[in-house]
Amino acid sequence: MTRVPLIVGSVVREAEGVRGLLLADPTGADLAPWEPGAHLEVTLPSGAVRHYSLCGDPADRTAYRLGVLREPGGRGGSEEIHTSVGEGTVLEVRGPFNRFPLVPAERYLFVAGGIGITPLLPMIRSLPPGSWSLLYGGRSLASMAYREELSALPGVTLVPQDTAGLPDLDGVLAGLPADTAVYCCGPEGLLRAVEDRWAGPLHMERFGAAPVERPSGEGGFEVELRRTGRTLRVEPGRTLLDTVREVVPGVAYSCEEGWCGTCETKVLAGTPEHHDSVLGEDEKASGTTMMICVGRSRGDRLVLDL
Ligand code: FES
Repeated sequence: MTRVPLIVGSVVREAEGVRGLLLADPTGADLAPWEPGAHLEVTLPSGAVRHYSLCGDPADRTAYRLGVLREPGGRGGSEEIHTSVGEGTVLEVRGPFNRFPLVPAERYLFVAGGIGITPLLPMIRSLPPGSWSLLYGGRSLASMAYREELSALPGVTLVPQDTAGLPDLDGVLAGLPADTAVYCCGPEGLLRAVEDRWAGPLHMERFGAAPVERPSGEGGFEVELRRTGRTLRVEPGRTLLDTVREVVPGVAYSCEEGWCGTCETKVLAGTPEHHDSVLGEDEKASGTTMMICVGRSRGDRLVLDL
């Protein structure tokens, strides 16, 4: 999928530290369709590539709505959005992509931590009232984006940590029918806490760096790039992506941490050793595709469709 330029049409303050952006086609054309849970890959003016969930209305093809939390200690992307991007800035984007689709279910529980609310917002809006509830935790009420539009809806519980502590996951999850689809997005601690407590259908999206198991770096292996016609040695301590980039400089990648899915590559032969948080267990077991930024090889040789 090629990159397309979109123009920032408006910038608003959604909450303390959260900037809302509307992106539109510069010619006024309709934007590509999307479904709740989808995200956009955005190339910032500095060249950094980041992924942001779409949090607007999928029926509105005139603009994509994003909500970006300023993270001063982050990798710089959110800081750039907050300081160097404004109305009229043109950003190159790819997508939308959806790795967090809303599956059909009788009932849903949404659990959001902080800016993790963004992908859940369009999901909630697409469902009939009474079929879902939302537990939304944040540092303080002022830091919780979209709290006003959410508090007008039935089934929403806002839990600002400074006055109400942490969300009562034990209490909420214990009372749910076992077939409830639980959707969770937020910081790692929240995802882990939900994972530990819920045995039913669970769908999670991680924001920022996921604690993927890092490649051990032990033992090198050979990689054949079938379309390029080159075979390379991946040395211990070097990533497959870095090695591939030497001969395929345009290979797609973004997070380099195994969570965004940009570097997904078809495996033609060999057995990949997965270290990402993108693929499901079945996809990992099938071994037909892998994230080359963190993945390695179980055997001496891998053949990739590159
Ligand atoms: Fe993000 Fe590999 S670059 S998963």
